[in-house]
Amino acid sequence: MAPVSLVVIGAGQRGTGYARWALSHPTRAKVAGVAEPREVRRARFAAEHGIAAEHAASDWRQLADRGRIADAVLICTQDRMHAEPAEAFAALGYHILLEKPMAPDEAACRRIVAAVENARVMLAVGHVMRYMPYTQAVKEVVDSGQLGDIMSVQHLEPVGFWHQAHSYVRGNWRRADLAATMLMAKSCHDLDWLQYILGRAPLRVSSFGSLTHFTAANRPAGAADRCVACAVEASCPYSAPRLYRDLLDQGRHRWPLSAVIEDFSSAALDEALRDGPYGRCVYACDNDVVDHQVVALEFPGATTATFTMTAFSKAADRQTRLFGTRAELTGDGQTIRVYDFLTRAERLITPAPAGPMTAAHGHGGGDAGLMDAFTTAVATGDPALIRSGPRESLASHLAVFAAERARLNGTVETIPPHPELRRALFRTGPGPSRPIRPGGR
Ligand SMILES: NC(=O)c1ccc[n+]([C@@H]2O[C@H](COP(=O)([O-])OP(=O)(O)OC[C@H]3O[C@@H](n4cnc5c(N)ncnc54)[C@H](O)[C@@H]3O)[C@@H](O)[C@H]2O)c1
Repeated sequence: MAPVSLVVIGAGQRGTGYARWALSHPTRAKVAGVAEPREVRRARFAAEHGIAAEHAASDWRQLADRGRIADAVLICTQDRMHAEPAEAFAALGYHILLEKPMAPDEAACRRIVAAVENARVMLAVGHVMRYMPYTQAVKEVVDSGQLGDIMSVQHLEPVGFWHQAHSYVRGNWRRADLAATMLMAKSCHDLDWLQYILGRAPLRVSSFGSLTHFTAANRPAGAADRCVACAVEASCPYSAPRLYRDLLDQGRHRWPLSAVIEDFSSAALDEALRDGPYGRCVYACDNDVVDHQVVALEFPGATTATFTMTAFSKAADRQTRLFGTRAELTGDGQTIRVYDFLTRAERLITPAPAGPMTAAHGHGGGDAGLMDAFTTAVATGDPALIRSGPRESLASHLAVFAAERARLNGTVETIPPHPELRRALFRTGPGPSRPIRPGGR
């Protein structure tokens, strides 16, 4: 079977990472084109993949103007730049891997689903947690029925103090109007994961949370607008020089340092800390997304769940407890423990180690798992290999929108029943009514 050909829209952190999977799996996929406005990124990416000059564009529209030059497209632009290219490349007949969130508003998410279904192309949304070996191990336990009926769920996303400061106070996802809400930007993964593990979409949600700590009101006396000029930097846990200099000194030339500087030199870092967004005091930024939030959910079958995201933790993997009528499952992102009420014995499950759930480590095998599933689906024309298709991804995005409405309005939101989504979740329905286009051109 010929390798699947890909074009990449946005040669940033995600686009570069997915494309490297292709480099290390040359029999499976080959990158044939790129669109990226930043010259240094485009040139580096084109050289790494041997992309012909005519297929290296500075804007996705230029690449789209060339018609269908590959089997599939990886759309890895920022959150507010997903829907337009997704609609355009679907109309051209490309199969699509679209980074999450699909889009920051419900109408655009629905337009994407309509576009891929009308064009009869496959869509895989970047819900990489569905593809982690750890997730598969949790799902196997749940689907086996060992837990009995799951009555309660407790799920925690400990974002971590430095990760929050990097991405959600100083960085690209600090403001909902520039990117998405915190729940959508970070925790759409978590609501999607709960839906996937339980095999059903929630019915009702409520939520509380706010931006409380990373505000001007908490700025310490004597703090400057930039860490490099700050008299109290040494006592601040959120010091930018400490975070990024340590990474540079340790030679960790990848995310998050790669979001701050292109050239991994001390001079480039000095300049970024002096002039760039990542050198700002965390109490003097233009951020507005929440730094802690809780969501309460009710699922069909009277299952209740709570989800907590917090900035105020050691950066760690997600932690989950599933409380069933016959057993309790505890998972910390690496190992799973199942305590059986009948035998009173605890079973330890250790899925093949795939590393931490962070972007720097490929999300615990999730990034590679998604690329593996997506390229195989395109090569074989089998959309069933994609676990994060249009309808299940739309369903979990709808839960996020509902939770955010609940937080803002102080309401309990009922998520309207979507029979077509529920069929897709349980894979009992007919799926798309028309056949999927074959992978090859
Ligand atoms: N699945 C995950 O777990 C995960 C993790 C992190 C980020 N993300 C999502 O992935 C997406 C990309 O994030 P990132 O960190 O790689 O961002 P990034 O900023 O590093 O990369 C985006 C790239 O798009 C480029 N771009 C801008 N305009 C363009 C245009 N008109 N045509 C082509 N390219 C254009 C930018 O120059 C940039 O290089 C975001 O939506 C983000 O939320 C997903």
